[in-house]
Amino acid sequence: MKATERILVSWREADVAAAWPQVFGRTGDVHLEVGFGDGRYTVRRALDEPGGLYVGVEVSGVSVRRAIKNVRRSGVRNVRIMKGTAQAAARQAFTAGSLASVTVNFPDPWPKDRHESRRLLQGPFLDVLADRLKLGGEVRLATDHEDYFHFSVAQLDAHPAFVRVPRMPPDAVFQTKYALKWREQSKPVHYGVYRRVPANVTTQPPIERPNPMPHALLTGPQPHFGTLEKTVIERGDAHVILHEAAAVLTGDGQPTRVFVRTTVDEPEFTQQLLVAVQKREGDEWIVRVESFGDPIITDAVRGAVHGVTEWLAAQDGWQVTARNY
Ligand SMILES: C[S@@+](CC[C@H](N)C(=O)[O-])C[C@H]1O[C@@H](n2cnc3c(N)ncnc32)[C@H](O)[C@@H]1O
Repeated sequence: MKATERILVSWREADVAAAWPQVFGRTGDVHLEVGFGDGRYTVRRALDEPGGLYVGVEVSGVSVRRAIKNVRRSGVRNVRIMKGTAQAAARQAFTAGSLASVTVNFPDPWPKDRHESRRLLQGPFLDVLADRLKLGGEVRLATDHEDYFHFSVAQLDAHPAFVRVPRMPPDAVFQTKYALKWREQSKPVHYGVYRRVPANVTTQPPIERPNPMPHALLTGPQPHFGTLEKTVIERGDAHVILHEAAAVLTGDGQPTRVFVRTTVDEPEFTQQLLVAVQKREGDEWIVRVESFGDPIITDAVRGAVHGVTEWLAAQDGWQVTARNY
């Protein structure tokens, strides 16, 4: 299959932000849809407005698989799909001023007060959208959830880069899987469109930082991997959770490599990753992030390397010889 025929695209690849014309094999306005579910709205739009280029991002693997099937079945060639969180993918996969619209149909409402921070259309994500949308570009929101609608409208109204424009929802909005579900329950659909207007917006650079991968070097005897207890480390407004350590053992039961299962919970997204402690020459060991799971290296991920380094450094006979994080 030619690269331009692949529907699933990785948002982590360094050059994807600048490469949408090559990915699609042509130029056109780029539209992003967040949380597309089974992708039926994305396909409908690609059929109705064939000049545009449609990129969907969805966190659920099952939805991604269904949407790819729908896109293939429909025969449209102007849809690409990314698996990941909208917050991370929007930052990584688009350059400033490159998006013509961002559509959010029936986002998860997170109705409980204590979960309000999980709602998508608010502060940091709106800053990213303001940066990535071109002037005149639009954010389009449809939801059945009145509270969520008022919450998002208040956030968008307060943002200097967006003004509301009156617009009726297009028919296709009433045909998404969730729209049909809510219609069965006679729930009304709330619809809001906001236009990107001139304003001073803060630049939102991609998250990934250049190499080197964060690591530390230590000297020491065998690590006591069984001693790691669940540890929560605060790092700025992020939390690093070291859950447990597991080791790869040699025939005589000595660990050659230890993996620390870690959660890095940042305001915009959460990553599960492995921090590895690996034996090198003599009594030298390296602590580094495993590439398994394709982690994005952020300051909080560096904090995870620091946490594991400190756990080892506290064991008898261990010394840190270099910290590169
Ligand atoms: C209620 S469903 C709506 C699906 C579809 N838009 C529709 O109308 O049928 C919300 C979707 O958003 C996805 N989602 C939730 N949080 C997300 C995030 N941060 N980034 C991308 N997708 C997300 C969920 O996996 C789910 O498929």
